[in-house]
Amino acid sequence: MLTRRDTLLMGAAALVAPRPGFAQSAMPELVAQPAAVQLAPENYAATDLWTFGGQIPGTEIRLKQGARFERKLINKLPAETTVHWHGLRVPNDMDGVPGFSQAPVAAGGTFDYSFDLPDAGTYWYHPHMGAPEQVARGLAGAFIVEERDPPDVDGEHVLVIDDWRLTEDAQLSEEFDNGHDLSHAGRIGNFVTVNGQDKMTLNARSGDRMRLRLINAATARVFTLELQGLTGWIIALDGMPVAAPFRAKKFPLGPAQRVDLLVDVTAQPGEEAFLVSQERGTGYAVVTLPVSAGGSRKARGAPAPLPPNTVPGPDLAQARTVPLSMTGGAMAWLESAQHNGKILDGRGLAAQGQFWAFNGVAGMPPDPLVTAGLGESIRLAMVNDTRFAHVIHLHGHHVSILNADGTAGPLRDSILLAPGQSREIAFVADNPGDWMVHCHMLSHQISGMMSWIRVA
Ligand code: C2O
Ligand code: CU
Repeated sequence: MLTRRDTLLMGAAALVAPRPGFAQSAMPELVAQPAAVQLAPENYAATDLWTFGGQIPGTEIRLKQGARFERKLINKLPAETTVHWHGLRVPNDMDGVPGFSQAPVAAGGTFDYSFDLPDAGTYWYHPHMGAPEQVARGLAGAFIVEERDPPDVDGEHVLVIDDWRLTEDAQLSEEFDNGHDLSHAGRIGNFVTVNGQDKMTLNARSGDRMRLRLINAATARVFTLELQGLTGWIIALDGMPVAAPFRAKKFPLGPAQRVDLLVDVTAQPGEEAFLVSQERGTGYAVVTLPVSAGGSRKARGAPAPLPPNTVPGPDLAQARTVPLSMTGGAMAWLESAQHNGKILDGRGLAAQGQFWAFNGVAGMPPDPLVTAGLGESIRLAMVNDTRFAHVIHLHGHHVSILNADGTAGPLRDSILLAPGQSREIAFVADNPGDWMVHCHMLSHQISGMMSWIRVA
């Protein structure tokens, strides 16, 4: 006969013992699949796209800070794929760079992604098959990690901004890598959506405070966004809280970048507020907010900062400085560069679809930009010596942008550099592995702007 003590122990054992088959089927799925989605207005056909979960944007992932993320990728696409968790500080073998940190997942194949979530914030996920194609076809979704103690707001909206290059019958242009796009500003679309909608509307109440999580999922377009009828503060950049929220009326959002805003609805009942995209002197509403009465009357003033994530601060005095010089592109064509171990002239490079170089090398170099010791502080001195803007993304780490006075500014994972601009960043190389550094204008990535660092 069992004693009471044995029964209790058995009960405990039953709770923790692995049950064969259970853990596997319990892992939630993330399905990459083709789907027809109504992007263009109703009088047009639905657009054949590639999606996560059959929708645009892809299945939203939302977890609490400190939780463990687990998803089984099911690849129902007619192509190999992987998922990269953009901005999340994940272990190297979960980073999703095919042929670099994982094998590509075959059509019909699966891959289990699982990792802990140390940081709260607004992140996103997308395939990393190199070319702009898979992202341009629609594969992108929001990845939200909620703070343990989120700010007090009347509502929250995740807004995924994207652009599409559509033909007259509302299908995707399948020219993913023409030489003009590669050597100029990248594959810029002709149709802008927010959360897959051409004319996105959000109901709002005058006086309410809302949190907006903006994500730029476009392959190349830099948006300049403006708030109208809303008073906004930036509370986080690329997921990471800023030390002191600051007022923002008009701000840039480069490909892959995120901005978290708190906005107070200042438009009156019966009016409309807007999120406007400004381009070449004209603005168009990408989100329209019809404003009604009955909103919050709380006087809240400037928002408090979000609790910081624990990203180690670099030792700026001791840090090693590594140059990253960007050259090439239209109007500043490369005369020569190294590509796949050979020095090629401009024509030779163009014949290989290469138009840009990092430190004189077009495409993945055999050696890393730097081999950093685990825990070493590194400064990356970036010089954009081209006629185009670029967004430089480092995998596996968040970096501090150095202010003009040399002090450490906000943390980011994707840094926008205007033509001719120089910026220095610094970080602690605390995540072991080989990590990509590349331009997130994906047309530029495949035509030269990629490299890597090693943390060992
Ligand atoms: Cu969002 Cu290397 O990518
Ligand atoms: Cu670029």
